[in-house]
Amino acid sequence: MKILVTGGLGFIGSHTVVELQNEGFEVIAIDNLSNSSIDVLEGIFNITGKKPIFEKLDLREKSMVQDFFSRHNDVVGVIHFAASKAVGESVENPLLYYENNINSLVYLLQELTKLPQAHFIFSSSCTVYGQAEKMPITEDAPVQTAISPYGNTKQIGEEIITDVAKVTNVNSILLRYFNPIGAHSSAEIGELPIGTPQNLVPFITQTAMGLRKELSVFGKDYPTSDGTAIRDYIHVVDLAKAHVVALKRLLNKENSEKVETFNLGTGTGSSVLEVINTFEKVSKQKLNYKIVGRREGDITEAYANTDKANDVLGWKAQSSLEEALASAWKWEQKIRR
Ligand code: WQD
Repeated sequence: MKILVTGGLGFIGSHTVVELQNEGFEVIAIDNLSNSSIDVLEGIFNITGKKPIFEKLDLREKSMVQDFFSRHNDVVGVIHFAASKAVGESVENPLLYYENNINSLVYLLQELTKLPQAHFIFSSSCTVYGQAEKMPITEDAPVQTAISPYGNTKQIGEEIITDVAKVTNVNSILLRYFNPIGAHSSAEIGELPIGTPQNLVPFITQTAMGLRKELSVFGKDYPTSDGTAIRDYIHVVDLAKAHVVALKRLLNKENSEKVETFNLGTGTGSSVLEVINTFEKVSKQKLNYKIVGRREGDITEAYANTDKANDVLGWKAQSSLEEALASAWKWEQKIRR
């Protein structure tokens, strides 16, 4: 079974390629290498002993997408990660995000509708909920007006997929990630943020390595137990495994609707200070940080209700925050050697 993974050399993409190969799938990874490195292929090979077929390809080029599918019309499933994903950057450069995240999706779907059967897994995000009213967040929580073009591209993407499913053979599952962190236990693949990390955990590990002077904690005046914001940090390998489970659900025609939605989180919320304290325990070293003002656009709290993923999808996150942070730390130390 040939599976296309777009953004296959990226953070979540590469971990998903490993899990697909572990399950015996033949994988084609495509990536435009704008936010990843070709060396990731080596990392995947070192883990599974199999190198996926790789093609450097920019999904914004419609003719390249058409050419790809003319040569690979035996693809039975697509897991679509390729997208720009920095919230702040999307505010500064909205057209980059609308062109990359929306045009690529449209060109991809146009080719999928020509295949005899198409099973499509879409990388979405809990960001579509904005600040949800009720915790933990269920899949039927209202999608709120996006506070960033990045978040808007995820909402628009879900709507495009839903409209296409109504009139074509494309069956889809929308996976709304909470906060992916960590790295494969082998430390052969992990997160490779380019430039200054936007996300909390890579900033923590780079600070611990002495690459950053100190971590700024964005706000300690939130209405939470310790004043810092709460998120649901999920191990990237748990997340990757969920993609394989979702793909199999479609391939085995177990889906009850043409488009299904699942929240992928641990179901546990952790504050920024709790993450810092857990990291200090794991790394056995003090982290240098200071409290500063809130970051524009941040929400107070988000953690997943995992019932639907557990009961319907048949998937549950296995790793603890401690294990996820330990894997992130092991990876950071490995790449800085
Ligand atoms: C987590 C918490 C920050 C950095 C975003 C996207 C989401 C997904 C994950 C792509 C927040 C605090 C952070 C720092 C800090 N992206 N923080 N100092 O914002 O929850 O989610 O990334 O799919 O779609 O919205 O993740 O890791 O940036 O922040 O205090 O240097 O850590 O304020 O409370 P976020 P994050």
